[in-house]
Amino acid sequence: MDPIQAFSEYEREALEAIENAGDEQSLEQSRITFLGKKGGRLKDLQKLVGQVAAEVRREVGKAFNDVKTRVNEALEARKALLAKPKATATAIDVTLPGTPFSTGGLHPVTQTMREFKDIMGRFGFTAVEGPEIEDERHNFVALNIPEAHPARDPLDNFYLATARSWAGGPLLLRSQTSTVQIREMEKTKPPIRIVSLGRVYRPDTIDATHSCMFHQMEGLMVGEDVTMAQLKTVLHLFAKAYLGEEVTVRFRPSFFPFTEPSVEVDMLWGDDWIEVGGAGMVDPNVFKAVGYDPEEVQGFAFGLGIERFCMRRHEVTDIRRFYENDVRFLRQF
Ligand code: PHE
Repeated sequence: MDPIQAFSEYEREALEAIENAGDEQSLEQSRITFLGKKGGRLKDLQKLVGQVAAEVRREVGKAFNDVKTRVNEALEARKALLAKPKATATAIDVTLPGTPFSTGGLHPVTQTMREFKDIMGRFGFTAVEGPEIEDERHNFVALNIPEAHPARDPLDNFYLATARSWAGGPLLLRSQTSTVQIREMEKTKPPIRIVSLGRVYRPDTIDATHSCMFHQMEGLMVGEDVTMAQLKTVLHLFAKAYLGEEVTVRFRPSFFPFTEPSVEVDMLWGDDWIEVGGAGMVDPNVFKAVGYDPEEVQGFAFGLGIERFCMRRHEVTDIRRFYENDVRFLRQF
């Protein structure tokens, strides 16, 4: 038999047996079979070396030694591996604390807006949206706010320095969500029952109850016989749905260019009344501006400050907390 072939056959079988040894005992068995001093297969191979011709004996001897070394190394490696303690179920200490991970959450204002939409949805109001960058027609003109009105003072609004509307007029960040009333009436025929929630911008002096950006919910209901009594009912029901039965709401006579009559809406917080918005019956001039016939339809509109309701429910006393992105505050919601 060709010794080199015998060596490689031996090596293949030895390595396979070592690899398959599942525990120290069967590994020891393989060691005895393949490397054992007495009667092991290695002995037979060694005899082959002695039988070959003198000229090739050196070379065959080296091949024999190399095979022996490799099988020995494989055996040692396998032995070390089997000696390692195994990871078993009992190696996991289930009493150790887990790795905590934190999840994100919705901003309190977002949560409030979703709940408002939900409540108003139950009253049959559909939520619509409008742009935050507006032209003067939607922010003022169609809302019956004439050129000379103080509400249009450039110092009381965020006008954009260079951008112009498609018609060439100036643009501004909307100062109220009443803009969406106009956009909605321009594109739909009555009856209408919508709310629109979003950001508004005013260069107010910032303090605990004022911010130059805040959120409003605008409501608009238009039909043949929509009344002021319905307006009051809707606002009462809304406040109770969000804040609970014990909330007290009052209406104070007021003025807005786009409603007549107009009221300011307050609610009781502790011993104080806080203003939460404005409301009223849509002014006939607004209907005319959008092509509705004020003899045929009437309606009510309201605009509520979203943060103020959220503050009242969660007893937040400073509106600025909502915009500081302090996770210690945000986590409470
Ligand atoms: N747009 C008014 C404001 O920003 C609120 C309002 C809306 C009043 C609708 C009457 C009707 O203060």
